[in-house]
Amino acid sequence: MRVVFGAGRSARLTDEVAALGLDRVLVLSTPGQRELARQVADGLGDRAAGVFAEARMHVPAETAAAACAVAAELGADGCVAVGGGSTVGLGKAIALRHGLPVVAVPTTYAGSEMTPIWGLTENGVKRTGRDPAVLPRSVVYDPELTLGLPPAISVTSGINALAHAVEGLYAPDASPIVSLMAEDGALALTEALPRIAAGGGADLDARSRALYGAWLCGAVLGATTMSLHHKLCHVLGGSLDLPHAAVHTVMLPHTLAYNQPCAPTAVATLSRVLGGAPDPARALWELTHELGAPRSLHELGVAEGDIGTVVEQALANPYANPRRVTADGLTALLRRALAGEPPVA
Ligand SMILES: NC(=O)c1ccc[n+]([C@@H]2O[C@H](COP(=O)([O-])OP(=O)(O)OC[C@H]3O[C@@H](n4cnc5c(N)ncnc54)[C@H](O)[C@@H]3O)[C@@H](O)[C@H]2O)c1
Repeated sequence: MRVVFGAGRSARLTDEVAALGLDRVLVLSTPGQRELARQVADGLGDRAAGVFAEARMHVPAETAAAACAVAAELGADGCVAVGGGSTVGLGKAIALRHGLPVVAVPTTYAGSEMTPIWGLTENGVKRTGRDPAVLPRSVVYDPELTLGLPPAISVTSGINALAHAVEGLYAPDASPIVSLMAEDGALALTEALPRIAAGGGADLDARSRALYGAWLCGAVLGATTMSLHHKLCHVLGGSLDLPHAAVHTVMLPHTLAYNQPCAPTAVATLSRVLGGAPDPARALWELTHELGAPRSLHELGVAEGDIGTVVEQALANPYANPRRVTADGLTALLRRALAGEPPVA
């Protein structure tokens, strides 16, 4: 995949679209980013076939079907996805069905643009899979487009990215190169997020660091197998319809604490990232507090009665994890996350 990175680089998006030989692209966004999508389409001139600004979180099947119909009607030969994971996810759904190439212009730190992972939600159930056809052909990272991302969403989105690095460090298919990317990506994000949270998000240098971190962490997600943390967040988000990045933010200190006793190399790396902290999970939990992020599932609307179902679903299919996952262990972990208590191994 081609990656272009730098402030103002989205102004040269037409070159990327032309380099792929695309003449009629459909520009995708969420309803909240419709204006930006229109500007992007205007900048593309004749190479833009239209705008579809209905992307939704977790890619509802009916949204994907509507976008595919518009793409076919307009004779689109590719898509430009401008936005976060929801918009890139919609581009992937179109690529999966019709094989149209995707150019991604990410405006959050979710990292979907770096992965061949697609998701589609039908009748309340989210299916995911891997297919090289959905991997964007070209990615344009322009930190200027992230200046308007509200600090609170920037923080949770950044910790979502950090979660990819954390699980990449103890993944069954981890490798030295991927671990280097995970460490540097995590370092960039942990440096940048406090500056974004404190300064209202207008610091372009901090935005560049955070987006660089998101790029690396997204690449880690695409290259490795995720474990307990991503599984639990998938179940919580899917079954209880919770905001994706906020769930990652609340859960990461707890899932990391659970795995720490069985992941000493990851602990050593994360300790370096977090200023020498002996207990990275605890340091991360404190960092989320400093950043003003949610720290309990209760704040996100989860109730004690939901825990049993989440545990059941999280245990339904086995998956790789450094520490054996048990119903008792998961229940205790989720109870602490529900109440916003400190993480415990
Ligand atoms: N397939 C993958 O590899 C992968 C990886 C990560 C996330 N995801 C998926 O992505 C989705 C979550 O993505 P997300 O967390 O980026 O959220 P999102 O794309 O839903 O964006 C969150 C909100 O922020 C707004 N927004 C985005 N960028 C903005 C900006 N720069 N300025 C102002 N507002 C902005 C959006 O309009 C939206 O309302 C979930 O469905 C998740 O499953 C997939």
